[in-house]
Amino acid sequence: MNTIIEPFRIKMVEPLRLTTPAERDAILRAAHFNPFLIPADDVLIDLLTDSGTSAMSAEQWAGMLRGDESYAGAKSWFRFETVMKEITGLPHVLPTHQGRASERILFELLGGPGKVIPNNNHFDTTRANCEHSGAAAVDLVIDEGKQPQSRHPFKGNMDVAKLERLIDEVGADRVPLVMLTVTNNSGGGQPVSLENVRAVRGVCDRHGIPFFLDACRFAENAYLIKLREPGQSGRSVADIVKELFSLADGATISAKKDGLVNIGGVLLMRDEHLAARANNLLILTEGFVTYGGLAGRDLEAMAQGFREVLDEHYLEYRLRSVAYLGEGLIRHGVRIVEPPGGHAIYVDAAEFCDHLTPDDFPGQALLCALYRHAGIRAVEIGSVMFGRIDKATGKAVHPPMQLVRLAVPRRVYTQSHMDYVIEAIGEVRANRQAIRGLRIVEAPEVLRHFTAKFAEA
Ligand code: F0G
Repeated sequence: MNTIIEPFRIKMVEPLRLTTPAERDAILRAAHFNPFLIPADDVLIDLLTDSGTSAMSAEQWAGMLRGDESYAGAKSWFRFETVMKEITGLPHVLPTHQGRASERILFELLGGPGKVIPNNNHFDTTRANCEHSGAAAVDLVIDEGKQPQSRHPFKGNMDVAKLERLIDEVGADRVPLVMLTVTNNSGGGQPVSLENVRAVRGVCDRHGIPFFLDACRFAENAYLIKLREPGQSGRSVADIVKELFSLADGATISAKKDGLVNIGGVLLMRDEHLAARANNLLILTEGFVTYGGLAGRDLEAMAQGFREVLDEHYLEYRLRSVAYLGEGLIRHGVRIVEPPGGHAIYVDAAEFCDHLTPDDFPGQALLCALYRHAGIRAVEIGSVMFGRIDKATGKAVHPPMQLVRLAVPRRVYTQSHMDYVIEAIGEVRANRQAIRGLRIVEAPEVLRHFTAKFAEA
């Protein structure tokens, strides 16, 4: 049998609300052409993010009822700590409310003015937390990782020669840690190879620099290693995951992705003294060390979710369904970042709207067209998110790519939902010359994509 099925059946359903094109046009206008401002109830298929949007399993819900809400030393905490140690082999486990809380603590300890922190690509919260500490965030992804059409199997890899050069230039004492984001979200959800992780570890060892993973999507990355890396196909994902973490001195994780939960995070550390200092910061803003800002029931759901995500039938279905979406779009002539990564398909909006210039915000314009035509919500990763106005010249500065990310929530949508998305985008493409550019009417200074208001040009 070649058909890869959803390895679960559905026990509880959440109705979707259908709207008419006229209603959607009015909703879009009321939201100032910014899908972040559309109420979720008015969205039919929500591909805004894969973060915190997973469907939990019956076992996770059972755990929610079992949750021990004791302030200190709850049973749920010990269960969670045991699972994280088992999966990663890292000895110090700190619970946090989500990924960025782990990042804030890590960078408060290791960052600071004058420091330089390399990554393949910092995710936006990672970069923001790094810079908030006063450190500089540097992206060192391989060149293929910046070319949408390159079919390199590990476009999330770090350029090790560039890392060596950077350390030589600034001096190892100014590099407090090196990070790798697995999979590389800002770079198209692309995986990092085990070989690259080993090589980066080797550089860190030679210079005495700690090495951390941003491991939100560690299971998807490990499965892509199993599929794509020579010599890895015979290993279990759990074994590959163990090796990944064995190469690191610690990790920040948002459990809202591969943890298969709606809220939660983790900070993992190998060094006892660093972990003790991190625990002090944890208590300051997150909560006591055995709950870190979460309810006992959240720890139960995480403990179960982190186990379930290593099920290879699940991962096979997960990776296959993302690739299926990408292949369907390619059949309609849509250009995407290839090969499909772990959690999302990234559409090349500059090509899709080749009658528009970056000043017309082609990604945002495409988002609006998808919502208007079919009630689909996605996110722009282009000039709205990363563009800025040069203070000296007053001119707009644009990022290298104009992308629209279709992020696939875990265990939420079926194949027919994806067929609908493919068909809808095909129809939008057939009439793409009609997509109108946008201009910004109102925007805050930072993170403008969340709240900016637009008008049609
Ligand atoms: N690191 C990566 C690689 C991420 O993708 C995210 C979140 C974070 C850190 C921060 O985690 O949200 O729990 O604080 N990514 C979400 C997304 C928001 O839509 O890609 P968080």
